[in-house]
Amino acid sequence: MLQIDSLTKSFGFGAAKLEVLKGITLSVEQGELVALMGPSGCGKSTLLNIIGGLLSGDGGEIDLNGRKYGRKGPSSVVDVRRELVGWIFQDFHLLNNLSALDNVAMALELSGVDSKQAESRASAALERVGLGDRMHHIPDQLSGGQQQRVAIARAIAGNRPLLLADEPTGNLDIASGKDVLQLFKDLCHDEDNPISILMVTHDPELAANADRMLLLRDGKTEASDIRSAWGLDDELGGEEE
Ligand SMILES: Nc1ncnc2c1ncn2[C@@H]1O[C@H](COP(=O)(O)OP(=O)(O)O)[C@@H](O)[C@H]1O
Ligand SMILES: [Mg+2]
Repeated sequence: MLQIDSLTKSFGFGAAKLEVLKGITLSVEQGELVALMGPSGCGKSTLLNIIGGLLSGDGGEIDLNGRKYGRKGPSSVVDVRRELVGWIFQDFHLLNNLSALDNVAMALELSGVDSKQAESRASAALERVGLGDRMHHIPDQLSGGQQQRVAIARAIAGNRPLLLADEPTGNLDIASGKDVLQLFKDLCHDEDNPISILMVTHDPELAANADRMLLLRDGKTEASDIRSAWGLDDELGGEEE
């Protein structure tokens, strides 16, 4: 469903030019949870921003459910942001004065859904993330893990086929982080309505629980298992022999 071919992106010019993405080629299938890892500053957020239609690449192409883009500026990919991609951030990005229900419903209303329908879809999304009994709480009355569930409900309420999650468990304790990962897996592996999730994480344990892991290194992605990503093969190789 997502196919990226030879995507490149640099910032700056001349001597100050920084080549961040040097030809990213990767694909994500429908129903797949893919973890993206890599050292800080290697371009993970840049890659997500281009996929999400917030930033244009310099070269290469993205094909998301048949929609082709990648080098087009943000104003040419409004449909990608409205219909194809949902976002989940490290710090939730909820509105503090609105209930869980209104946070989710408002996002739908902003994309053109009428209020009544927005409310019923918001309520269904909150049920789906296990917050059916917390709909009228405001963020301050919810734990970090519950707040991230509201953000996930907001992201899935619009029925977008791809969720981009940039360090979604970065502000959560270990148990809540595991819960979020399990919820992601349930959403991806749902028989009736599977979605795909591309998730940036620094946590090797969470990454190892995804369907697949990609490592972004030196501007390119490599398929990876957890051992080679952390250099464990080199370190432990001797002992195993
Ligand atoms: N708008 C920008 N202008 C200039 N440099 C940028 C910009 N956005 C990101 N960078 C640089 O690109 C590199 C990759 O950043 P980023 O994608 O945020 O990395 P990551 O998310 O992997 O930590 C970093 O060196 C960062 O400083
Ligand atoms: Mg980042």
